[in-house]
Amino acid sequence: MQDTPLAPYSQALASAVNERGHALKHGHLPGWEAAVHQLPPTPACAFSINDGSVSINYSCDDERSKALRSALEALMPWRKGPFSFGSTFIDTEWRSDWKWERLAEHLSPLTGRTVLDVGCGSGYHMWRIREAGASTVLGIDPSLLYVKQFEAAQHFIQDPCVQLIPLPMEALPTTMQVFDTVLSMGVLYHRRDPHLHLRELAMAMSVDGELVLETLVMPGETNDSLLIEDRYANMRNIYELPTVARLCQWISEAGFISPVVADITTTSRREQRSTPWMTSHSLAQALDPDDSSKTIEGYPRPLRAVVIAKLG
Ligand SMILES: C[S@@+](CC[C@H](N)C(=O)[O-])C[C@H]1O[C@@H](n2cnc3c(N)ncnc32)[C@H](O)[C@@H]1O
Repeated sequence: MQDTPLAPYSQALASAVNERGHALKHGHLPGWEAAVHQLPPTPACAFSINDGSVSINYSCDDERSKALRSALEALMPWRKGPFSFGSTFIDTEWRSDWKWERLAEHLSPLTGRTVLDVGCGSGYHMWRIREAGASTVLGIDPSLLYVKQFEAAQHFIQDPCVQLIPLPMEALPTTMQVFDTVLSMGVLYHRRDPHLHLRELAMAMSVDGELVLETLVMPGETNDSLLIEDRYANMRNIYELPTVARLCQWISEAGFISPVVADITTTSRREQRSTPWMTSHSLAQALDPDDSSKTIEGYPRPLRAVVIAKLG
């Protein structure tokens, strides 16, 4: 973080990670770490975006290519992408590039900005943000598997201006009002208290900062929200799904102004699906087989909105 706007906070971030010692353990962690160590040594590799894939420009002989594939397989399931590590294409569960295409044109230019991606997963969107000109990109995500997937990409790319720290948003130091753009995508519905999450996002923003909030919403024009009892589309830890009107109200209540609804899209079985790199059930198994407008629990099927707002 040297020479970045985040440098003054590196100690506070390190302390925040250390305080989560108990959460930084996982039964599979030694295997994931071994996989990252197994990656072939290499000088820094450039990356580019090809057909939506974050494509790392790396070439090697067949033997190394096999070792690379087996290391990447040890980091399955791969949910957010796609990525290409040299000739190894990782067809992830999600076409995260489609989400990016829907929102990118609505963002204030990212050139030179310091960006926070909350719940960044494998870091796919961080590479898109960096490629779009951001000078510093910090991702935070509590999932250690995703941190290791990011480390696999960073093993090749070696870009010190893109960092992922294993923290949930609620553990980010509250003194960091440094981010020009803050993205929270796919996180709000995982929080028991969505209002607190929005206030935490506001606290991380610089003056005139821009929020990009992407989340599941309920269809309809009313100002309402649906409390989820147990599971939603097979997922646990989903708490409350607002309509777009209620979501914009929440965003305003958290101190943001001028929320603009940039996109509303029903998730398709082409955007989220099982692949050789994520072999478990996916969206197809989460929908009612007799009525695909509903989840198997009888709720409206996944609909996602992107709202962009400024700090007031
Ligand atoms: C549905 S995924 C979204 C990934 C990515 N942002 C995207 O839109 O494609 C949600 C991510 O949020 C992370 N997450 C869950 N709770 C979180 C929290 N409290 N703070 C930060 N990230 C969280 C999960 O580990 C997961 O990687």
